[in-house]
Amino acid sequence: MIGTEAGFWLPKQGSTTAPVVDSLFYLITGISAFFFALIVGLLLYFVWKYRARPGHREIPSSTHNTPLEVTWTVIPVLIVVWIFWEGVVGFIHLATPPENAYEIQVLGQKWNWTFTYPNGVVSPELHVPVDTDVRLILTSQDVIHSLFIPDFRIKRDAVPGRYEKEWFHATEIGEYQIFCTEYCGTQHASMLAQVIVQHPVNFDKWLADEGNFIEKLPPEKLWEGGKKLYNQRGCKQCHSIDGSNGIGPTFKGVWGHNVALNGGARVTVDENYVRESIVNPQGQIVAGYEPVMPSFQGRLKDKEITAIIEYLKTLKESGE
Ligand code: CUA
Repeated sequence: MIGTEAGFWLPKQGSTTAPVVDSLFYLITGISAFFFALIVGLLLYFVWKYRARPGHREIPSSTHNTPLEVTWTVIPVLIVVWIFWEGVVGFIHLATPPENAYEIQVLGQKWNWTFTYPNGVVSPELHVPVDTDVRLILTSQDVIHSLFIPDFRIKRDAVPGRYEKEWFHATEIGEYQIFCTEYCGTQHASMLAQVIVQHPVNFDKWLADEGNFIEKLPPEKLWEGGKKLYNQRGCKQCHSIDGSNGIGPTFKGVWGHNVALNGGARVTVDENYVRESIVNPQGQIVAGYEPVMPSFQGRLKDKEITAIIEYLKTLKESGE
């Protein structure tokens, strides 16, 4: 998997948070292993030492040993309080994004992530500049999702109707896996994305290029913009272009087709039907499908919807 050549126990350390989390993790694991060995070792030793055998007289258990009991109470209490303290400090650190962090909006929906940048660029992958504090503002369009970046040691739920924050400071250029770690339905396991950590110069160039790609396309190339949007904005998770039916109907050959709707009516797939299906997907559901598509009202510009329509037209005959 990209960017996650595993360390001995834990994934690669890709952020400033990772070493902090890992050292505490290893320390707690070490303390647990030490006490496990100590307690189980003593247990086995005593089982052997006081075993029943000919000539061995049973000794009554001692009822009390104050110095011993104080020792085995105070030491573990100090250790546990220290672990709690480290946990609280770490949690506060993780929950408090630095003041001047670069802000990216994250939207989870069934079943993809979209990342929105300050200049309006929307991307299915999380591009970020290296050595920069980045703050993510997460929310969800439908159910609870959870954005997990193992290499950065951060995870946060995306909850509908509210905003959650998480932040990181990536330390190395590369690609890192994003998972959804809240079971959110059929395609939960494929709700994946990448973090692409870039040199700040390359990041700025990417951001500028993405900002106006659809505006730069000549009319006869507009369908290519539609194809890109299809791949980037979550259409492909549910609508195939090879004729196979998924969560939603395939896009192959759908253009101009007369389709049956739930409720018995029929409609011809034309510009208006496609547009309506994007902004108000619950309105006219194709027969046999669930009304699960989220609305893209306000999230796709008119020109982007036009580009998707142009792309659908190219799928009329042969698929691609
Ligand atoms: Cu989204 Cu699981």
